Amino acid sequence: MATDRMFAHVVGVEDLTVIRNLETAYEEETKNCAAYKAYAVRADEEGFPGIASLFRATSRAEQIHAGNHGRVLRHMGGSTMTDVPLPRVDGTLENLKAALVDQRFEVDYLYPAFLVAAVPLFDSTAIRSFHWALEADKSHVRMYSDLISRVQANGSTGWEYAPHDFLVCGLCGFAADTVESENCPACNYFREKFEIVR
Ligand SMILES: [Fe+2]
Ligand SMILES: [Fe+2]
Repeated sequence: MATDRMFAHVVGVEDLTVIRNLETAYEEETKNCAAYKAYAVRADEEGFPGIASLFRATSRAEQIHAGNHGRVLRHMGGSTMTDVPLPRVDGTLENLKAALVDQRFEVDYLYPAFLVAAVPLFDSTAIRSFHWALEADKSHVRMYSDLISRVQANGSTGWEYAPHDFLVCGLCGFAADTVESENCPACNYFREKFEIVR
């Protein structure tokens, strides 16, 4: 008769690497979620409610990434216990630059390396979670770098002085102020499932 032991998952080296990487990604996204929430408060205090809306949207997106990684992690027997350090909060332009550095690091190094390590495991859930986070984080890089260059070139973009609606994909965390396509450009999820974050 079949027993639980017969079906017990044998944890190999690749699994452990992917579990550690998921834990790192979970920690990173949880930390970023908290930081962007704090940056939103600072942006409101400094009279930039539109930038506060952008930080709330990206904070929500990072929460979605952490949630996706966390679900895969728990399934693989990893831990989602993490101590989130209090974020360092500067002026809004500095906070935008810090957020851009975080997102570029994730897009250029963290997720590409984690994807390479996850491929031998053939675990589609881990690969999908890293892939969605990578694609969504590219949308954050675009928004942060656009905003920084426009603010630096003109001193203002106009929209940062009024609250602004951003669309965040509830599945992958892709964020934008407008989405033309019928489905999410990053994960193909239904367009009507986007959340509006202001
Ligand atoms: Fe992210
Ligand atoms: Fe998506």
